[in-house]
Amino acid sequence: MSELKVLRENELQDKVGLFVGTRPGIIKFSPLMRELQKRGRDFFIIHTGQHYSYDMDKIFFDELELPEPRYKFLDVAKSRTHGGQTAKMLARSEKALMKERPRIVLVCGDANTNLAGALAARKLHIKVGHVESGLRSDDWRMPEEHNRIMIDHISEFLFAPTEQTKRNLIEDNVRGKIFVTGNTIVDAVEQNLDIARKKSVVLDKLGLTSQKYFLFTLHREESVDFKENLRSILQGIKVLSEAFDYPIIFPTHPRTKKTLKYFKLDTYISKIKNLNIIDPLGYLDFLMLSGNAALVLTDSGGIQEESCILKVPCVTLRQNTERPETTEVGANYIAGTEPDEILNGARAMLGKKPNWENPFGKSPSKKIIDIVENSLSGQ
Ligand code: UD1
Ligand code: UDP
Repeated sequence: MSELKVLRENELQDKVGLFVGTRPGIIKFSPLMRELQKRGRDFFIIHTGQHYSYDMDKIFFDELELPEPRYKFLDVAKSRTHGGQTAKMLARSEKALMKERPRIVLVCGDANTNLAGALAARKLHIKVGHVESGLRSDDWRMPEEHNRIMIDHISEFLFAPTEQTKRNLIEDNVRGKIFVTGNTIVDAVEQNLDIARKKSVVLDKLGLTSQKYFLFTLHREESVDFKENLRSILQGIKVLSEAFDYPIIFPTHPRTKKTLKYFKLDTYISKIKNLNIIDPLGYLDFLMLSGNAALVLTDSGGIQEESCILKVPCVTLRQNTERPETTEVGANYIAGTEPDEILNGARAMLGKKPNWENPFGKSPSKKIIDIVENSLSGQ
């Protein structure tokens, strides 16, 4: 008797496995799901359960009318360490892949979910396609940087959003084939913006006028899990609230809600004038809010891209970005976490003419699925 440790070529089936698990992954994979559906391709979704609250997960499946995941892991959320969380997702993913035996799996981005999915597939000799490949912050504090680099090195297909990300991959000497496809966030915005304009009433609900408010988000580990960084960013927001008489809308990630309490900064933040702290929003409401903001302030990767695509100036509350394309076209200012620099950033970006071009490509999902289909047909 031999133990089945890897899958042989003749055991694989002509279908595609998609790994999701976090808010941005679901959003960025939604156009790929639509493209696969349009072409009648056999595919299935594995949801690692990394994100699990309704407003971080299921709301996107409901709103964007996405197919139900065939697998969903329910015990991952309890893990409180990167290793523990990734290990659970890896073991569960391997089991699901052994059952399904797809010829190729796709992962998107840099969350632990994607490392677990890519590694499970790699070990079974299933081909891996990394969507949003080649991004580099060169910031070794970030868990996302560890994940990106590892996923890029074990993928057969590297779907790089831009020429810059392709150069990063060449410099890193990756083994897989690199394709510059653009970023699927472009399709996600395009497919949902008109629907958001028709359906979303979020501006009225929050009493906002287009171009007369700021939108603020914060969730990254290095921003919110270190008290000095979190406090400094909040001081920056306070300075802005005093310098500009604009409402600042803050849909708060669950991680940030928890750390604000833990560091006892919740009272401080509740006293910031004009700051409106709300729950995370669905995609349609969020697109509407970001598309109409005078300025976006964020540490999010996806939101830096979206504001650039929506032609809304952005101030990034981090020391660096793995999306330098946004600064190169003039859409984004890397302010760091010091209050004075945040204010300088807001002054520099406010009222900036949004005459930049979208650097993240056209019809990326179609290009990616063309390549996936070629690989299934052995080309
Ligand atoms: C993860 C990704 C990050 C991505 C972000 C998108 C990693 C290492 N990080 O960070 O790259 O930008 O998702 O939002 O994979 N929580 C809830 N409900 C949820 C999800 C999270 O309450 O649905 C809380 C839990 O207390 C959890 C904490 O937030 O422990 C952190 O969640 P986790 O998924 O580990 O990391 P994110 O900060 O969401
Ligand atoms: N987003 C959302 N509701 C919110 C905040 C963000 O739908 O309240 C969307 C946003 O439009 C973007 C994605 O979530 O597409 C970004 O996710 P996040 O900031 O959590 O992660 P990152 O992109 O930094 O990995």
